Amino acid sequence: MEFNRIDYNTLPSTNAEAVRLYKLGTITSATVITAVSQTNGKGYGSNYWESEPGKNLTFSMVCFPKEVDPSKQFILTQIISMALLETVSKIITSKPVTVKWPNDLYVGNKKIAGVLIQNFVKGSAIDVSIIGVGLNINQKVFTSNAPNPTSIINETGKEFAPDVLLSRITQRFGFYLEHLSTSSVIESVTKNYMQYLYRLGQPGKYKDKNGLFTASIAGIDSYGRIILQHENGNKQTYGFKEVEFM
Ligand code: BTN
Repeated sequence: MEFNRIDYNTLPSTNAEAVRLYKLGTITSATVITAVSQTNGKGYGSNYWESEPGKNLTFSMVCFPKEVDPSKQFILTQIISMALLETVSKIITSKPVTVKWPNDLYVGNKKIAGVLIQNFVKGSAIDVSIIGVGLNINQKVFTSNAPNPTSIINETGKEFAPDVLLSRITQRFGFYLEHLSTSSVIESVTKNYMQYLYRLGQPGKYKDKNGLFTASIAGIDSYGRIILQHENGNKQTYGFKEVEFM
């Protein structure tokens, strides 16, 4: 699938610009919006996304996945996670590259990319999905209080052209978008997402509204909720933001 491209030098946020252009009716087919620099890059909730101008990738893909039922929208999280994982794991081979549920990309115990998805539902269908990605490439020093950031240069010692990585990511993501109705492709994405899940099968510390506990990941359900198995064997299902990795 070909993406139209809109490149900006400076924007508050590529996601906010995507939402603005979608609401104006300007974007009606798959489009990628990039910015060299964001003045108000958004993470989840009130988090800020740090990115030194020109060093990294900050972009949003606008797509219209008509065949995805809103109750199955987690597949969009899975396909962007796999597109990123495939791209980054070809470059960084010295450490495991994994997906920290639901969609952070990790290298070892450090975060190299974050994804912010905004789906707009109209009636019983997803009208538009805006998938914002921040991938740290050539930035060496991070000054915000983001936990454990890393970048491709910090992991490999080498610089990479952001545009080359952008075209690999959009190519893989576009392939998956075109195959949302091909069950063999979707089954393999779901299988790979599970296989490359950060902390899979390892006991780790988590925090929920009742406090800290040790558990291991027992699975992800079809709505994208994480299933944690406590030390006493009990399983509990959590939605996004109901549990924190410690
Ligand atoms: C997170 O991990 O909290 C999500 C970070 C998402 C950051 C990207 S950068 C490009 C796009 N525009 C934004 O304002 N945010 C996303």
